Amino acid sequence: MGDTVSWLDTMSIKNICCIGAGYVGGPTCSVIAYKCPEIMVTVVDLSKDRIAQWNSEHLPIFEPGLMEIVKECRGRNLFFTTDIDRGIKEAELIFISVNTPTKMYGLGKGRAADLKYIESAARRIADVAPNSKIVVEKSTVPVRAAESINNILKANLKTNINFQILSNPEFLAEGTAIQDLLNPDRVLIGGEESIDGQAAVEKLASIYKHWVSDSHIITMNTWSSELSKLAANAFLAQRISSINAMSAICEATGADVDQVSHAIGTDSRIGPKFLKASVGFGGSCFQKDVLNLVYLSECLNLPEVAAYWQQIIDINDYQRRRFANRIVEALFNTVHNKKIAILGFAFKKDTGDTRESASIYLCKYLMDEGACLTIYDPQVEKAQIFSELLHPAISEDPDRVGELVTIEDDPYKAAVGAHAVVICTEWDLFKDLDYQRMYNQMLKPAFIFDGRLILDHRALHDIGFHVETIGKRITRGRGHLVRQFAKPGL
Ligand code: UDX
Ligand code: ADP
Repeated sequence: MGDTVSWLDTMSIKNICCIGAGYVGGPTCSVIAYKCPEIMVTVVDLSKDRIAQWNSEHLPIFEPGLMEIVKECRGRNLFFTTDIDRGIKEAELIFISVNTPTKMYGLGKGRAADLKYIESAARRIADVAPNSKIVVEKSTVPVRAAESINNILKANLKTNINFQILSNPEFLAEGTAIQDLLNPDRVLIGGEESIDGQAAVEKLASIYKHWVSDSHIITMNTWSSELSKLAANAFLAQRISSINAMSAICEATGADVDQVSHAIGTDSRIGPKFLKASVGFGGSCFQKDVLNLVYLSECLNLPEVAAYWQQIIDINDYQRRRFANRIVEALFNTVHNKKIAILGFAFKKDTGDTRESASIYLCKYLMDEGACLTIYDPQVEKAQIFSELLHPAISEDPDRVGELVTIEDDPYKAAVGAHAVVICTEWDLFKDLDYQRMYNQMLKPAFIFDGRLILDHRALHDIGFHVETIGKRITRGRGHLVRQFAKPGL
């Protein structure tokens, strides 16, 4: 504070560098390049393979509308490279968009975010930056992470070099990332409450103002911004766990969770979004961010708050387990050596991302029971499915995974000779499959488990399927859908 003039007043942003070419950095910077043709945007990454894919016809992530934007900008003002140092040196503003997975070792294991990639990116900036920079944390980070980046950069300050650290969390959802980036509900920018801090906030805001109106750009202090991101994800996850908890009550009472969801969603104070019951939420953010909040609360000596948020995760685990138990129970209490077709492995539709997908856990529980799984997903590669299922937390015996799991590239093939079909991802194409054809090729009785409430249960029932879904009970006899009271303890 003190000065009324900032070193930022004379800075003009002509070059942006983004460290991390993943699900956040890639789409975000493609849209910035698309909307700001006068700014050079360089996305850098340690992974040669990832960068090669960004420079190819086969992008490393599947995201509707992304390829069109990349094609328009790539080579014009959008570049993908492994030359991290050059990217840093040339940029006035640097986004850090590296991964921040849940820490799997040491202090905070299983809950805290692992900041090693952020730290390494910050150290690289400190080492090679020849002049002053605005550094923006885009990755979701624990509250006060900006302070850590600041400490690293300031501890390594060279003469006449300044840094300003901003928090600018990303709210894009996978599958709708481009629309979310083009029409954001809001852009959030947190900065230091100083002349320099506010000047840096203005510089970043001026980039978004190329396509986002002033009223949608919210500025605040850095910690509020960091916490707002965690809070937004925790509130969204909480809605899903709340409706999933209701789905268990629905199954036990004969209520229909879709009807309950519709009824409460029409209350304008509640609203209709994120009230779809499911086999459980997945994705790289919800579980990680809620756990992060739990850890933060524990560290702040707020055990009641920690326990409150932990319940969101516990209900999600419960929902996945409950659905798996339901499959085993319906298949006469054993799935051993039975073929089960799993349709969908991505954590949601319109993405090839499998991180924390409910399918992984469902497959684990069914493999533990000795089921033979045939898995089909329209976007997820075979190697990716195996890499998830071979993770030591999922399976201790790689040979057994090899024996039990087959990947199919056709949903009908996956169902041939199967006892059951299980819908795990809400891909639109699953709504339009020829289920009569599938039924004809399955063992009888043929079961279908709809973990996403997307199918026409009455039509399936009329074909002859035994239909089970979440949040409603459907009986066996042909011709009628009759909801019944569940057995206690289910
Ligand atoms: C989320 C946030 O929505 C986004 O703002 C943030 O930037 C990153 O985390 P994402 O994880 O990509 O985005 O997808 P999202 O659409 O939120 O879905 C997360 C999970 O919840 C998916 O598994 C989805 O299937 C599930 N879900 C979502 C439900 O089970 N029911 C719902 O009603 C909504
Ligand atoms: P997100 O979903 O948060 O975007 P991803 O895992 O998809 O996460 O992408 C993060 C990217 O960051 C990866 O491609 C990884 O190689 C890259 N990365 C991690 N650390 C560094 C680093 N220090 N320098 C450059 N790239 C990094």
